[in-house]
Amino acid sequence: MRRREALRVVANESVGPYSLIRVERGSLDPGSPGQFFMLEAPGRPLPRPMSLCQAPPGELGFLLESIGPGTRALAAVEPREKIHVFGPLGNGYRLDVERPLLVGGGIGVAPFPYLSAVLGSPPAILGFRSDWHAEAASLVPNAEVVVEPTLVTERLRPDHDVLACGPEPMLEAVRELAPNAQLAWEAPMACGYGACYGCSVEIDGVLKRLCVAGPVLEAA
Ligand SMILES: Cc1cc2nc3c(=O)[nH]c(=O)nc-3n(C[C@H](O)[C@H](O)[C@H](O)COP(=O)(O)OP(=O)(O)OC[C@H]3O[C@@H](n4cnc5c(N)ncnc54)[C@H](O)[C@@H]3O)c2cc1C
Ligand code: FES
Repeated sequence: MRRREALRVVANESVGPYSLIRVERGSLDPGSPGQFFMLEAPGRPLPRPMSLCQAPPGELGFLLESIGPGTRALAAVEPREKIHVFGPLGNGYRLDVERPLLVGGGIGVAPFPYLSAVLGSPPAILGFRSDWHAEAASLVPNAEVVVEPTLVTERLRPDHDVLACGPEPMLEAVRELAPNAQLAWEAPMACGYGACYGCSVEIDGVLKRLCVAGPVLEAA
């Protein structure tokens, strides 16, 4: 069940250009891989959606890329500070897959450490724009890493069940090659639980709230 709680920051570590923020779990349920939490961004009016990256005993871990004011505020949190965390939210990956293959690009790697732990370390193909960004691949076991100009789609294995997360052009390209893939999409989100309609996207010709219908959707 989703809850909102002020959780103490245990650590804020750099992983290449990304920040791995670990907080005490409190009474929050980690949920299922691919679900997300709304994290208070200190000093900002709205929280920011983040996929759960790691769920070690007693903790929740989030991997984030600083791209704007909210993520910059989150990347600056210090151990012992408390931030409000709300979740788990949305629909994660369907886990009844026979031959999983995780396919991620950039910060899209964020949900994979938890997903990989739950699925028993399946193979992964991870793409990054530089060797520095590729340091995040160390969080995902059994990963083949490609760095631009090589793209993850060049290494896709069509006989696998693809579970993907990454930038929209990557997801579109994966969808073309693996029509049965599960894809984790993004949209700006203000509430995370269906109240604000800020995350409305067109799915099958109908406007749907991504926070409720997704963020993981079947490619088909
Ligand atoms: C379900 C979900 C899970 C996410 N998980 C992670 C995660 O694990 N790690 C992580 O680093 N980021 C994740 N994100 C993206 C993250 O929430 C945004 O990067 C963050 O909210 C940006 O806030 P900001 O204030 O730093 O930047 P802003 O100033 O809000 O945005 C900077 C730029 O990015 C664009 N943008 C912002 N948010 C989004 C979005 N959600 N989709 C598309 N474009 C956007 C803005 O239009 C703007 O151009 C996730 C998003 C969603 C919806
Ligand atoms: S984020 Fe508010 S309805 Fe989806």
